[in-house]
Amino acid sequence: MERRDCSEMFGVIMSARPRVLISRSAPPAGTDPIKAVCDVWVWPEEDPIPAEEFKKRAAGVTAIFCHPPDEINKDLLDAAGPSLKVVGTMSVGLEHIDLAECRRRGIKVGHTPNVLNEAVAELTIALLLSAARRLKEGYACQNGEETWENALYLCGYEVSGSTIGIVGLGRIGMAVATRLKSFNVAKFLYSGNSQKSYAEEVNAEFVSFDELLECSDFIIACCSINAYNRGLFDKAAFKKMKKSAIFINVSRGVLVNHDDLIEALSSGEIYGAGLDVTEPEPLPPDSPLYSLKNCLVTPHLGSASLKSRNGMASLTARNILAGIRDEDLPSAATY
Ligand code: DGY
Repeated sequence: MERRDCSEMFGVIMSARPRVLISRSAPPAGTDPIKAVCDVWVWPEEDPIPAEEFKKRAAGVTAIFCHPPDEINKDLLDAAGPSLKVVGTMSVGLEHIDLAECRRRGIKVGHTPNVLNEAVAELTIALLLSAARRLKEGYACQNGEETWENALYLCGYEVSGSTIGIVGLGRIGMAVATRLKSFNVAKFLYSGNSQKSYAEEVNAEFVSFDELLECSDFIIACCSINAYNRGLFDKAAFKKMKKSAIFINVSRGVLVNHDDLIEALSSGEIYGAGLDVTEPEPLPPDSPLYSLKNCLVTPHLGSASLKSRNGMASLTARNILAGIRDEDLPSAATY
């Protein structure tokens, strides 16, 4: 990928082209359309851009193309100054952006919902099936071990006939439920801020969070993060779940108290877990979540299909270019 450092040039030549800061490498589907009409600077390292460098590079830009967890906070917006028209994040999640501050300054914010629904739903189901059928232990059996000595060896649970509880029946929750329907699920429950009319499509019943925890065989967290749901899955929540429950998190790691989850998994309070998101990301290598045989951890791979990531990059570019041209963003964040 071509990476140009235009920062020195900016000091010398007054370019008519808008300046865009890209805070980490992105697929050409996102960078090429912007490079065609703007002067672009891309953070060239694999590690996240340090806050000071981010501020320095943001000064005077027209647009910022970012990704969580690159923080767009008041300091960064101050450093960017009044030239900044639009922030486009290559994510659905907006928790790294101070939306109120952007609104106050008239800065447009774009994000990338929908283009990743299928990819995240498929990964969710992969985690759910892997946890239910103990694939972590199965993959570890690579020494010619006799697995039929005990007919119940590595037996897990089936999705068929189960009750699935979805916390947050939004776009991704619906994509998961629609696909799981074909597994002959007995019942879908969901909880969240409000009842959804489209829940009828999967016959999902709106219940309280506690009822969902108590009645579900599989509990899938698909909700977005807000000021009230950090640490929602704590000791008390795991205690309410069935001992056979399997917990899946594809939302954000901060939704879960990981010490409480480790305790619940080690003590048999719940049966298993599949986590695509953790706090922090990545987890420290010595985290018990990696070593527990009933816990699968993937490194935030939900949207990691070529189709989805290219779609996210391309939509971010369209958001950025529309913002630069003072047009409505094709996918504006609603807040
Ligand atoms: C999102 O789009 O929010 C995904 O979790 C990737 O960050």
